[in-house]
Amino acid sequence: MSPMRNFNEDNITQAVLDRMIACTDPRTRKISEALVRHLHAFVKEIEPTEAEWSRAIAFLTDTGQMCSDTRQEFILLSDTLGVSMLVDAINHRFNGDATQTTVLGPFYVEEAADLQSGANISREPGGMPLIVEGTVEDAHGNGIANAMIETWHADGSGMYDVQRATGKSALDMRARFRTDANGRFWYRSVVPAAYPIPDDGPVGKMLDAQGRHPFRPAHVHFKLSAPGYETIVTHVFIDDDPYLDSDVVFGVKDALITKLLKIDGHVSPGGHEVAPNTMLLTYRFVLPSQS
Ligand code: BEZ
Ligand code: FE
Repeated sequence: MSPMRNFNEDNITQAVLDRMIACTDPRTRKISEALVRHLHAFVKEIEPTEAEWSRAIAFLTDTGQMCSDTRQEFILLSDTLGVSMLVDAINHRFNGDATQTTVLGPFYVEEAADLQSGANISREPGGMPLIVEGTVEDAHGNGIANAMIETWHADGSGMYDVQRATGKSALDMRARFRTDANGRFWYRSVVPAAYPIPDDGPVGKMLDAQGRHPFRPAHVHFKLSAPGYETIVTHVFIDDDPYLDSDVVFGVKDALITKLLKIDGHVSPGGHEVAPNTMLLTYRFVLPSQS
């Protein structure tokens, strides 16, 4: 047992750990003990001045105060420090061919419209036309019928609908689809652009101080689910993007990068009629069975 008083640099960590002796929930105890050990080790490593520690408290206070119904600065902090991707990796240790996962991000909206394959999900006339043709398969390559595909992305200037306006009627470039009997789905939209994450708050200042840019490479988000299978949250990234190797939230994986093909003529490889100069994004998603 450590002393009950006269704490110093050498004995205070153990004293705080000992104070949790009455904690009966094993998970709470494990988390609390690790928090204290790592936080004390961090402080011992950096030996902050009192002014620096006050700045740290002010930073966390500002981060909380920046949060609102439409802005979650703590998630951005977790994303930009690589913690969201670490949590994602720990929770999705799938084997084999399963589609790799990435962060959900702050622009997901649960109540997007249910549309039929073939719909155009972009009301904005601007941007290069895009057709997305995908399949959702099981680990053996069999199409999964009636799987739900939730998809959302930024527009051709890198803005999400929810950044332009609020309210259900403002929803754009997002929808929910269902696969057909062979696991196929398709829709039309516009080619998304790379964009900076919201950087007008404390996280933006942190990135600046760390000499980092706030950009994410161009991508389309997908959340895929079907009864009996693990839900997969992922993005498909567009190759040739200058930010693929410096994504501010560390979300890029080689297996999720695809090349957009320019469709010659008026019919896509999936047999759908398209406007001139339409770009094609294809992807084969694989859902692992639930264990
Ligand atoms: C996104 O891709 O939508 C996103 C992810 C993490 C932080 C900000 C945006
Ligand atoms: Fe995004």
